[in-house]
Amino acid sequence: MSNTTATITLHGNSTELPVRKGTIGPDVVEIGPLYKNTNSFTYDPGFTSTASCESKITYIDGDEGVLLHRGYPIEQLAEQGDFLDTCYLLLYGELPTKTQKADFDYRVTRHTMVHEQMAKFFTGFRRDAHPMAIMVGCVGAMSAFYHDSTDITDPHQRMVASIRLLAKMPTLAAMAYKYHVGQPFVYPKNDLDLASNFLRMCFAVPCEEYKVNPVLARAMDRIFILHADHEQNASTSTVRLAGSSGANPFACIAAGIACLWGPAHGGANEAALNMLAEIGSVDRIPEYVAKAKDKNDPFRLMGFGHRVYKNYDPRARIMQKTTHEVLGELGIKDDPLLDVAMELENIALTDEYFIEKKLYPNIDFYSGITLKALGFPTEMFTVLFAVARTIGWVAQWKEMVEDPAQKIGRPRQLYTGHAQRDFVPLAKRK
Ligand code: SDX
Repeated sequence: MSNTTATITLHGNSTELPVRKGTIGPDVVEIGPLYKNTNSFTYDPGFTSTASCESKITYIDGDEGVLLHRGYPIEQLAEQGDFLDTCYLLLYGELPTKTQKADFDYRVTRHTMVHEQMAKFFTGFRRDAHPMAIMVGCVGAMSAFYHDSTDITDPHQRMVASIRLLAKMPTLAAMAYKYHVGQPFVYPKNDLDLASNFLRMCFAVPCEEYKVNPVLARAMDRIFILHADHEQNASTSTVRLAGSSGANPFACIAAGIACLWGPAHGGANEAALNMLAEIGSVDRIPEYVAKAKDKNDPFRLMGFGHRVYKNYDPRARIMQKTTHEVLGELGIKDDPLLDVAMELENIALTDEYFIEKKLYPNIDFYSGITLKALGFPTEMFTVLFAVARTIGWVAQWKEMVEDPAQKIGRPRQLYTGHAQRDFVPLAKRK
């Protein structure tokens, strides 16, 4: 604990606020006593300068383009480990030993099936329902099936719920895809790793054997690693806020899925691919760059910019490399969308506007091209993001529930509405 303090002087009164140092990154000013001492709130819509919690899980240095999970750089996790390593690391805080990994793999694998009654939910949706709408509904409904892991005060139930969510999200996502394309559901197979199982549940059909392509499975696994967790982003903050009321973990993750869906957040991967398709060819890029710079035009370059990264998103670099690997493996020589994406990146990175505003490609810029090449429709892109981010949401939710200092999240406001006034009977209203 540092003995540094920050002094705030307001209406002639001064108050000393404690300053806390993290392991790395900016200090924080503990403003808890502010209201009691000064009768004033802080005001920070969008939380641009606000730390909502203390966490040991993920650290981002936006200026340097650094992303660490429990201290390990994302580049090393993505190149040298697999998604199960990252899941274990986020949940337990350390990389698993061989025995721990085998046990974790066994536990996750044996929770991949969903209750058979859940299949009946799907027939209630239209076939053209957006798969994210289906995921919000089905994941929230998990609390109707898994009552024995909703008591958040029980560490065993918290862990069972965490494993169930990690294991069943790929199955539900694959079911949402199969329902969307009108094909029969495919059950998980226990002898496949998570990414291979997921690809098989999505793309296998009863009429022929499905052979997992190891290069594509490795690419899928790496895409899951890249999307696993990302500090206190909007959907993770949603999960934490929902969890702070004591809501069950399935309801909290459903809330996170709903928030991720927005085009400013996880929905950007779907929006970025649609944008690349709308631009269509390299010669139309200048027109769209001009629109993105026009203050009167709401259009933004989807997949560009970030609240924290004011440098290249390290995940986008790895994603771009994965895109080339997948296109190469599939023999896709020239993908017009990739041509547009790479030329758009070149133009944007040398454009004054983007340089001045420090706008770089983020993880959503290249992911859509890769996911489309893997065979997914654009509507599934954010679902895949949700499948991967579930481990991050669950790890952050667990950390929040287990934090002795945690209390229900209840922000205040700057009120600019009417002062008190008297009711006007209908007959007297003008
Ligand atoms: C994700 O938080 C996370 O960690 C999220 C995420 C995760 O892993 O959880 O990383 C995943 O959500 C990545 C971001 C995906 N979203 C998009 O790609 C959508 C396009 N990007 C923007 O909407 C925007 O950049 C945000 C929402 C990502 C960040 O917005 P901020 O931090 O609120 O920044 P801002 O909107 O205040 O923009 C600052 C300036 C503005 O101009 P001025 O008002 O200062 O003149 O930059 C401009 C913006 O107009 N700007 C853009 C732009 N992004 C910002 N201009 C054109 N195109 C863009 N993409």
